[in-house]
Amino acid sequence: DSPEKLAAFQARIDAGEQIEPKDWMPEGYRKTLIRQIGQHAHSEIVGQLPEGNWITRAPTLERKANLLAKVQDEAGHGLYLYCAAETLGVTRDELTRMLLDGRMKYSSIFNYPTLTWADMGAVGWLVDGAAIMNQVPLQRTSYGPYARAMVRICKEESFHQRQGFHIMMAMAGGSSDQRRMAQDALNRFWFPALMMFGPSDKDSVHSAQSMAWKIKMNTNDELRQKFVDETVPQAEYLGLTIPDPDLAWNEEEGHYSFTEPDWSEFFEVIAGNGPCNVDRITARRTAWDDGAWVRDALMAHAEKSAARKMA
Ligand code: ACO
Repeated sequence: DSPEKLAAFQARIDAGEQIEPKDWMPEGYRKTLIRQIGQHAHSEIVGQLPEGNWITRAPTLERKANLLAKVQDEAGHGLYLYCAAETLGVTRDELTRMLLDGRMKYSSIFNYPTLTWADMGAVGWLVDGAAIMNQVPLQRTSYGPYARAMVRICKEESFHQRQGFHIMMAMAGGSSDQRRMAQDALNRFWFPALMMFGPSDKDSVHSAQSMAWKIKMNTNDELRQKFVDETVPQAEYLGLTIPDPDLAWNEEEGHYSFTEPDWSEFFEVIAGNGPCNVDRITARRTAWDDGAWVRDALMAHAEKSAARKMA
């Protein structure tokens, strides 16, 4: 990559132009996008597992229908994102193999178990809430196919966030046992939700370059702060307590000050040692292996159709 080419590319980014699949791009830009979009796609797919766990146990038909629709939406998000990644010259099969052999990550949050129905509320409210906080700015990311995928994904994520908050409202306003379950779910998901934004800025290896390329629009800490500022009043509305005794409004800064998550736990989880990592990867591997005959059949059918057309 000559310095002139790199400078011309950076000038396009700085001018707010979008980069399209057939445009020239530096190898590092392509690789960073494959890593981030691929990881994002894997997160959507793995993210179906903790909630899929509760579809058959939803308390009412309406809740079941909503949860089923939400989990299906996540599959759709994964598919858009795999398609966006494919425009960068990688196949979905390659991405899946990289996930299964540990060369690619997925979001840390999905390595925590969902133990009660209240967790469906906490996941929708906090996990989808954090996902939206991160994804709304990505609608303006510099890579066209990624930015466009984000538009629909964000619309659907806001429905997910609301259905989670609605569950929390029912639980928090219900019997004392339901309130206790809602509080317990918040207690378990609060810090893992804060970890979704990635390590603190001083430990974020990719942020500086990704922001210069407008692959990321904000730093990890900026988005984490925004999430805390928006979520604390929602917890107050629910009458629930954020499990952080040091949480306090800082008048001078115009932000809440809060306790950082336990970063050693975060690094353990992303290294594969969280509570559910083995289960999640085993489920993905089983789905991949069990689906081999479908992929083979589709390929055989495509080959036969092509041969028939030639004849
Ligand atoms: N879970 C797992 N891994 C993470 C997480 C996380 N929450 N946060 C950071 N990491 C990893 C990074 O991937 C990187 O590892 P790698 O070099 O092996 O890829 C390492 O930790 C260092 O972090 P950063 O330098 O800060 O990484 P990056 O610049 O990629 O920022 C972030 C991480 C904020 C998650 C970014 O990739 C991003 O915005 N991704 C798009 C959104 C996304 O993936 N959302 C999925 C979760 S929610 C959902 O939609 C279902």
